[in-house]
Amino acid sequence: MAKSNQKTPAFHAEAIQKALLEWYDRYKRDLPWRRTKDPYAIFVSEMMLQQTQVKTVIPYYERFLKELPNWSALAKAKEEKVLKLWEGLGYYRRARNLQAAAQKVIADFHGHLPQTREGIVELPGVGQYSAGAVLSIAFQKPEPLVDGNVIRVFSRLFVLRGNLKVGENHKKVWDIARQLLPPKRPGDFNQALMELGATVCLPEQPQCLLCPLYAHCEGAQRGIQYELPEMAKAAKTVEVPMAALLVDQKGKLFVRKRSEEEKWLKGMWEFPSAEGRTHEEARSILEKEFGVQSEPKPRKDVKHQITHHKIHLSLYAAKAKKEIRINSTAKWVTSAELEKLPFSSAQGKLRQWVLTSYFQETELLPKIKKARKR
Ligand code: ADE
Repeated sequence: MAKSNQKTPAFHAEAIQKALLEWYDRYKRDLPWRRTKDPYAIFVSEMMLQQTQVKTVIPYYERFLKELPNWSALAKAKEEKVLKLWEGLGYYRRARNLQAAAQKVIADFHGHLPQTREGIVELPGVGQYSAGAVLSIAFQKPEPLVDGNVIRVFSRLFVLRGNLKVGENHKKVWDIARQLLPPKRPGDFNQALMELGATVCLPEQPQCLLCPLYAHCEGAQRGIQYELPEMAKAAKTVEVPMAALLVDQKGKLFVRKRSEEEKWLKGMWEFPSAEGRTHEEARSILEKEFGVQSEPKPRKDVKHQITHHKIHLSLYAAKAKKEIRINSTAKWVTSAELEKLPFSSAQGKLRQWVLTSYFQETELLPKIKKARKR
C-alpha cells in the first residue's frame, strides 16, 4: 500500500463550487444523457463511460436506448443482442453486467434502482465510482465520485503527489471529493469536475488560461501543473500471438461462442481462436482441438491493442479432417448470419476481411448466395 504523503489540503470549498458550477452552466457539452432524468438511461450511460471516452460512447448510447429503452426490455433481451449493441465498445463484461444488473433491479428491487451507496453497489458492475455518479446525477444524492479525470484535477488543484490510484493516497482523494461536494447540485458538480478534466485540465496540455479554477489552483500558481499527476510507471506492453481458423464448408463458415470458462470476451462469437507462445503453437493447438488441417501461411493478419496487450491475430484457412460437431455454441453460418453475431474488435477485423476480400478471392460468393436462399 502506498503511504499517504500529504495532509488534507485547506481549500475554499464554496468558492471552488461556485466557480466550477458557473463554468459548467455556461460551457458544459450538450450530451444525450444530460437531457434525461431517467435513472435507467443515466445508469446505461455511466456503464458505457467507464473506460470509454464521451465521443465514442454517444452513438452506442443512442442505439442502445432505442433498442432497449427500459429495465424490463434489457432484462428480457437475448444476451447476444446486448453484446451486439456493445460491439466495438470493448470491455464486454460491462454489457453482461449491465444486463445482470437490470435483471436484479426487476427481480429484487421492483424495477427501481436502489438509492443508497450500499444498495446500488450490490448490482453487478457497480463500483464506488459508478455508485457516486448514478446516485448524484439521477437522484441528486450528495454522493462523491472519483475517476481518472477527478484525480488529475485534484492532483494539480491541491498539489497531491505520488500515485493517487492506490492505498492511502486514493483514500485521500475520496476524502477531498467528499469535502468538496456541495449539498446542492451534487450531480452537476460531479459532472463539472469530470468535464473540467476532460476538456480543460487535460493530461498533456492543461488549458490553464481557460480554467475557472485557475485562481484556486496551487499547481498552476506554483507553475508545476505540468509535473502532475505523478503516475505509476505504465505496465510494459506484452505481445500476444494468436491464431484463428477459417473453415469453410459449402460456402458456410465455422464459428463458435466463447464460453464462460474463457478469461475474456465471454459470450462473444469468433472464428475459433487460441493463444500461443508463437503463431505456430497457437495454430497447432487449434488443429488438435478441432481436428482440422490448416495452411501454414495465414490469409490475414490483424493487430489490436487492449490495455497493455498487443494482440497479433492471424487467420489460417483450414479443412476439416472429420465432421466438426455443432451445438448451441458452435455452428456453420452464411455471410449474412456472420454479420449479425457479436464479434470483438480484433475478430471483427478478420470478419471484415472475410466478408470483403476472402469471398471474392475464393469464388465462394456464388455458393454463399445459394446457401442464403435455402
Ligand atoms: N464520465 C463519466 N460520466 C460522465 C459524465 N456524466 N459526464 C462527463 N464525463 C463523464
